[in-house]
Amino acid sequence: MLVTAPGIEDLATESAFAVLARAGALAAQGRDIINLGIGQPDFRTPEPVVEAAIRALRDGHHGYTPAPGLPALREAVAAYLLRQYGVAISPTRVMIVPGGKVTLWFAALAFGAPGTEILIPDPGFPIYASAARFTGARAVAYPLAADGGIAWTADAILERVTPATRLIIVNSPGNPTGGVVSAAEVDRLADGLQAFPQAAVLSDEIYARMVFDGRRHESLLTRPSLADRLILLDGWSKTYAMTGWRLGFAVWPAALADVAERLAVNSHSCVNTAAQFAGLAALEGPQDAADAMIAAFAERRQAVLAALDAVDGIRCAAPAGAFYAFPDVSAFGLPAETVQNGLLEEASVATIAGTSFGARGEGHIRLSYANTIDAIEAAVGRLADWLDRSGRRASA
Ligand SMILES: Cc1ncc(COP(=O)(O)O)c(C=O)c1O
Repeated sequence: MLVTAPGIEDLATESAFAVLARAGALAAQGRDIINLGIGQPDFRTPEPVVEAAIRALRDGHHGYTPAPGLPALREAVAAYLLRQYGVAISPTRVMIVPGGKVTLWFAALAFGAPGTEILIPDPGFPIYASAARFTGARAVAYPLAADGGIAWTADAILERVTPATRLIIVNSPGNPTGGVVSAAEVDRLADGLQAFPQAAVLSDEIYARMVFDGRRHESLLTRPSLADRLILLDGWSKTYAMTGWRLGFAVWPAALADVAERLAVNSHSCVNTAAQFAGLAALEGPQDAADAMIAAFAERRQAVLAALDAVDGIRCAAPAGAFYAFPDVSAFGLPAETVQNGLLEEASVATIAGTSFGARGEGHIRLSYANTIDAIEAAVGRLADWLDRSGRRASA
């Protein structure tokens, strides 16, 4: 009999991919599915970005690049971070990786081990807990609080830091809540962590550019006291509608840049070369397509909030960022997973149960509003009808 390693048993999954597959199967049977499940922009990658990849292939860029990425791309990322945040970092700290997720894995592998603890948000991106547990570390969940949607707070994190804490994962703008952390909370965390020099921070800022209502994205990169312990996770997937290209970037502490590079050499060697040329064009080319997409998300956000607000029994904290709403449907007395499955099977709307993101997601569902306003309004209508019917059935 084959005997797998202990960590393998702890690997979880992302329900978003299971729901996507089921929604696809139902659509193939002719069902009119509205997909508010998977977290990816419904836009095409901007044309100049696509053209840059085609040109790279035609120009013969078919070989490996250096493991941490094309030098020009690492420099372009450093220049982008300087433009966005006014922070100058050495391109030698920038790592180009095949998707934002890879930075999470590298951080988990670099810091997680049996006997250690990794702090993760609950509700949070499901792969945080999965990667932490795979390494043998204990995944210690911290709750989010109502502020800028539902976002992380320094107190909830600092209360749970112990000498065994090796990595703290924070995410703003957040998945699944769309919450955006305030500058005051970032300062509080940076101050509080001075007492714990052994704890690294992974700041997942993959939705950095998607912030609404005049709020500002507070990058942890802007706090000098964190520089020696901060791993920044960002990338092209969401900002430039490039989820399928598998392209992300990270900033590592200078002392760990070599670790990040060796992790890359040992896993994927380098990122697809044509994709790296596309990433360069995305950062250095016109931003109008990305800006227009973000403006469309701002309008859809208003539409989804207005539609949810009109449904008796649903409450939804206004999310300040990303493209998710995380309504509370607990008034209908149904487990979140029942809502997710019932909605998809009986009302043809794909959503994700809040519990897919942690136990504290119970009573909620995640709506990815990366869809047209008509589709969003129709989906919320179907949601309201379904909850009404199921509520009656539940109480009958
Ligand atoms: C919070 C968060 N981090 C990371 C990722 C992964 O991004 P990528 O597709 O670039 O690996 C996602 C994707 O859904 C996400 O929601």
